[in-house]
This record gives sequence, structure tokens and C-alpha cells, in this order.
Amino acid sequence: MRATARAQPNIALIKYWGKRDTEQNLPAVGSISITLADLFTTMRVEFDDSLPADSLVVNDRQNDAMLPRVSRCLDAVVGGDRSRAAVSSASNFPIAAGLASSASAFAALVVAADAAAEKQHSREQLAGLAGMASGSAARSIYGGFVELANDGDSIRLARLRPAAEWPLNVVVAITATGPKAVGSTQAMETSRETSPFYPRWVEQQQADLDAARAAISDKEFARLATVAEHNCLKMHSVMWASRPPMVYWNATTLECMDAVRQLQADGVPVFFTIDAGPQLKAVCEPTAVDIVRERLAAAPGVEAVMVTGLGAGARLIDDD
Ligand code: PMV
Repeated sequence: MRATARAQPNIALIKYWGKRDTEQNLPAVGSISITLADLFTTMRVEFDDSLPADSLVVNDRQNDAMLPRVSRCLDAVVGGDRSRAAVSSASNFPIAAGLASSASAFAALVVAADAAAEKQHSREQLAGLAGMASGSAARSIYGGFVELANDGDSIRLARLRPAAEWPLNVVVAITATGPKAVGSTQAMETSRETSPFYPRWVEQQQADLDAARAAISDKEFARLATVAEHNCLKMHSVMWASRPPMVYWNATTLECMDAVRQLQADGVPVFFTIDAGPQLKAVCEPTAVDIVRERLAAAPGVEAVMVTGLGAGARLIDDD
């Protein structure tokens, strides 16, 4: 009754921001992401009738704050009458700082729990279950370029391209560590309820999805860059115009954006994207990775840079 799974975070190029249904955690808009290779979460789940309660250890420390969300996810995968579980998770990157740690964590959790309880859900079902816990987690079930579409009362995942077919790199500039100010669930609801730009955001998403899908299909970096940056800045504009406003960037985020702009002016194939946190992710072609890493590392205030390729979806691993 135990299993271990590993999953990588994904970075949305066309963002999910806003919920259609908070109960089922269904997104108001579709999204397109890339699953990363070298940042990962390893999740071990053990069901045991003799345990008095569920427990959760994150990076070697007991974590009671996240436990209810993890327990609810296990109930959804296995059923409410399941045995209690001991869950332990380890990530090789800072968690809760806009690096999509919940995506890799919940993708790995559903895969491990499914195997430990011998449920044999399909990949699609696992994606739906991961998405109920964290919208972006559904996308980490698959590797490479992934589209998450709204499909009536459920979500639908499409694999647009495996990682090996268009091996881009991502350079993550860490501009601050520590948990983010406002969690994404609360922030999305604030945007939906108060941002005058929110209805236009939802309305325009299909056009951005279509443009990005076509650029990925044609492997046209410049077109993907243009629509991804537009979509990212549009999402942040929705947040900035919310009441209260939500500004996830810091001064170093802007320094990094400027570094990317300068590289682009020199013809370097790179673009940026930023999620609900202060880190900047620069997506580039492999030929550009050294210069992008160098420039971002030199941007004033950057604490560290991490370089990764694109990788595979959530999977079981042998930890015995
Ligand atoms: O899945 P959540 O609730 O962590 O929300 C993710 C929201 C963004 O990272 C900002 C965008 C996205 O599509 O990943």
C-alpha cells in the first residue's frame, strides 16, 4: 500500500487565471504550458490502517498547514473510506514562491496515491483529480507542451508536442525566496470579483490559445514569444487593476525583464513569463541558454538562476 511518484512543475505560456467553478476548481480559461525537466517533486504515499491520522512531511518538516488539502486530494483519488496515509514530499527548488510547486506536488500525489491504493485511474482521470487540488497541476501529468482546455463541466488535456520535438530551455531567475503574499485561489477570486479587465481577459483567451497552439505546431519561436509575453502581461494587468491590487513583482523582476528586452534587441531568441510570484522565467532556444543565464545572473538583485530543459510527465519511481 505504498508508492512513490515524481513530477516536474510546468510553466504556463498562456496562463490560467480565474475559476469558473470554485467547488470543482474548474478554470475559467484554457491554458498552455511547458513541463520542466530538472526541477522536481518526489512524493511518497503510504496507506496504513494502523495510522491514527493522515500526516504530511514536506522537505523533512511536518507540514500541518497543507495537510487538509492533501487529505482532500487523497479522498478524491481513493475514496473517503480509505486508510489513513503518511505522505512525504521533497522538492529540489524553493516551494510556494511562484515556481509552481503545487503543480508538481499534486501531480505526483495523485499518481503515487493511485498506485499505492491500486486504483488504476486513466491519465485523463488523474489529470482531473490533480486539477481539483491545484488547477495547474493537471498539466504536469503530461510532459512537453500541454494544453488544458475547458470542456463543459470538466477539463480536457491535449499533448501538443513532446519535449524532445522542440527542446527549449528555461532559465529561472530567483528574485526573492519565501512564501508569496496572496495565494492564487484567493487572488483569482479577487480578480474575478473586482478587476474591470477580468471579463476582457476571459474573452480574449481563446485567441491567445489559438495563436500559441499554431506557433508550437510550426515551432515558430518568435510568434510564441510575442503571444506568451502579451498573455503574461495581460494577466498581471488584471491583477494590478484588482481591488486590493495584487503586484507579485519586485524591483529585481523588472531588472530581469529589462535584461530580456536587451537580449531581444540583440536578436537573441528569448522571452519572459512571470506567474503569481516574483521569479522571472526566461524561455529560450538552446543556442541562447548561456548568454541568457549569464545576463540574468548579472541582473541587480538576482539571488540565483536555475537552468532546465523540458521534461516528462508525472510517473512512478522505484524508491526501495
Ligand atoms: O494552479 P494554481 O492555483 O497554482 O494557479 C496557477 C496560476 C498561474 O501560475 C499564475 C498561471 C498558470 O497557468 O500556471
